[in-house]
Amino acid sequence: MAVDAPAGMDGGAIEVLAAGDLRGEIKPCGCSPEGQMGGLPRRLSALAGRVAKAAVAPLVLDLGNNFPLPSEQGRLKIELIRTLLARFAPEAILPGPNDLALGRGALGSDLPYLVSNAGTAQGLLSQRVVVRAGLRIGLYGYLSPAEVYQGAHSDLQLEPVSAELLAHLRARIRAAAVQRSVLLFRGSDAELAQIVAADLFDLILVGNPSDDELHQQVERRVAGRTLPQVPTKGQGMLRIAWPLSGPPAPAQVDWLKDGVPDHPDAAAPFARYDEAVKALFFAALQGAGAPPDSPYAGAATCEGCHPAQQKVWRGSRHVQALPTLVKVGKQFDPECLACHVVGLGAGGFRSPELTPTLGGVQCENCHGPAKAHVREPGVHKPAYVPPQPIPGHGAPPVRSGPPVYGAVTAHPAAAAGGLLPSERTCRTCHMGSHSPTFDFNVYWPKIRHGRE
Ligand code: HEC
Ligand code: HEC
Ligand code: HEC
Ligand code: HEC
Repeated sequence: MAVDAPAGMDGGAIEVLAAGDLRGEIKPCGCSPEGQMGGLPRRLSALAGRVAKAAVAPLVLDLGNNFPLPSEQGRLKIELIRTLLARFAPEAILPGPNDLALGRGALGSDLPYLVSNAGTAQGLLSQRVVVRAGLRIGLYGYLSPAEVYQGAHSDLQLEPVSAELLAHLRARIRAAAVQRSVLLFRGSDAELAQIVAADLFDLILVGNPSDDELHQQVERRVAGRTLPQVPTKGQGMLRIAWPLSGPPAPAQVDWLKDGVPDHPDAAAPFARYDEAVKALFFAALQGAGAPPDSPYAGAATCEGCHPAQQKVWRGSRHVQALPTLVKVGKQFDPECLACHVVGLGAGGFRSPELTPTLGGVQCENCHGPAKAHVREPGVHKPAYVPPQPIPGHGAPPVRSGPPVYGAVTAHPAAAAGGLLPSERTCRTCHMGSHSPTFDFNVYWPKIRHGRE
């Protein structure tokens, strides 16, 4: 007679918990209630909750691609991410392109990064065997060479999928005498189809290629099989019950919504991170004054000639955008300021003290830098502003797809050649999880001003 399984534990099953593709989204920004999913502090709570319930320690895996784009502030974030990843105690992490952007060294040496298709693994694991409920489980990783820059001097020389690689993996799985095998995969559907066809793995977990966190794809269908794919930007965690005697059940997703509390142990590392970001912000301002020849005039200068527009603006929430950051203690974080002030990294806002008139979202966020127009109202062209370094970030990144910061540097009004903005301008800030409910036909009437 079998003993009752503990509450919440499916008798005789192992639980697999997997996440990844954080891409620097360490915590929800707080911009919109609908967009507030995910974050490392919530994931730590969710994991701790599953561990507390389980009779057999869950198998925690990570699909990697967790680091942000390279920058000074990014380095601080990487440190924070590494600290929290260590707390999650994963059995294996597949390094992703973001993680390898700064080279092998940025991964640190204390986390179980694993990749099985590298010529020389450079101190990374190439296979790992763990035991759960008496079962030997082999862990493997495939990172497509197409995902990572592969120069002759790259740290990691990755091999593409081939009959030879698959035969090699088959031999290793056999030699390790494991009863179950798991692959962490990042690459294309074509590569995945070849691996699926080889039938080497009992469970394949896939990294997520999408950048659209509002429409999460949490499975990938390839060669007649449906494979679990981790949600992007840390918004959720895959949970898979794996009976000891059969194949894994379909994956569930635990979305890390508002109801999931921040784990108290995450508070200190986050406080250290915020302090370091603040120090970086002030270090970058050392000895700096106001931008000497800012093309921005500030909203007050428009008032005399455009009183009706000014009145609408004063009544809008855009005015409050900087106080909003002050309320949550993030007025020193360029990754927040980018959309909450005028012209960050484009000759505008530097700090509330140096540029007191350029806080908040103002006329010139939408109409473009208009100092020339203020001097000479016949001028209906916003100034061209070459991108300038953002404190802690260096040059603003060239934009392709939704950026994390620098959202206001390439001004769409300038591209259109006049001072009149369009919906595209709104979407440089009202994007993704920062404004998931944005609909121009609903939002514009709230701040409408113009010809009528
Ligand atoms: C890509 C542009 C962008 C970035 C970057 C950004 N925000 Fe926002 N934020 C917005 C927009 C747009 C809104 C208004 C959203 C809406 O109402 O639809 C907003 C609103 C907010 C609000 C107001 C919520 C409320 O209802 O009162 C807070 C707080 C906030 N942001 C904090 C932050 C913090 C903290 C960061 C950095 C971690 C950040 N923002 C980064 C665009 C951005
Ligand atoms: C000295 C008066 C004056 C000031 C100051 C001024 N404007 Fe104007 N603005 C005008 C006049 C006059 C027009 C209409 C010109 C025309 O129709 O030829 C105009 C037109 C505009 C237009 C419409 C442009 C178009 O292509 O139809 C915008 C947008 C605008 N101003 C924005 C601003 C902003 C933003 C500021 C503050 C940074 C500002 N203005 C400051 C006088 C001013
Ligand atoms: C430079 C970034 C930026 C641009 C460009 C921008 N917004 Fe916003 N918007 C914000 C931020 C930040 C907030 C939140 C301010 C706060 O509450 O502190 C916001 C809030 C709003 C709100 C208030 C939301 C609510 O539910 O009441 C409306 C409406 C809005 N924006 C409309 C627009 C429209 C329409 C456009 C384009 C014509 C636009 N915004 C362009 C950053 C921007
Ligand atoms: C959130 C974005 C946003 C902000 C902030 C904003 N505007 Fe506008 N403004 C627009 C849009 C969009 C239009 C309509 C463009 C059109 O009709 O094609 C417009 C229209 C105008 C026009 C009318 C142009 C015309 O000829 O009809 C003027 C003038 C103007 N804005 C001035 C201002 C001034 C001054 C401020 C600040 C006090 C301001 N705007 C703040 C987005 C903005």
